[in-house]
Amino acid sequence: MISDQQTSELRESAKRASENAYCCYSRFSIGASVLTSSGKIYSGCNIENASYGLAICAERTAIFNAVSSGEREIVAVAIYTPTKKPTAPCGACRQVINEFGPEATIFCGCDGSASLQLRLDELLPSAFGPNDLA
Ligand code: THU
Repeated sequence: MISDQQTSELRESAKRASENAYCCYSRFSIGASVLTSSGKIYSGCNIENASYGLAICAERTAIFNAVSSGEREIVAVAIYTPTKKPTAPCGACRQVINEFGPEATIFCGCDGSASLQLRLDELLPSAFGPNDLA
């Protein structure tokens, strides 16, 4: 169960992380934060490259940051875009969230009043995951 305080910290961290986005090609900045089972928050932003296909999304930056610190279980993800409407994570990020948080709650926030709260299994039903290799 995620407390209201954890949820607002997670959302604020995602917004702060978007300030570091390296998005000079798309001009679309995104920040993401993940809450892990240890109660810690890890953040990331999208990082683009002159070789366009090498861009990495904010969600995966945040997840790889958490995993690199020894975390293996994601409880919730917050995404922030400086847009009027919230945006949901791309397909590649959904798959990576599934690896570490198949039951994660996803909060999508923006500058408008609308926000989305979804579960990963709604965003990626019948996912292929670690158990399929067992
Ligand atoms: N992007 C993300 O960071 N997360 C997503 O879920 C979708 C797209 C980034 C990648 C690229 O830097 C920019 O947004 C435009 O696609």
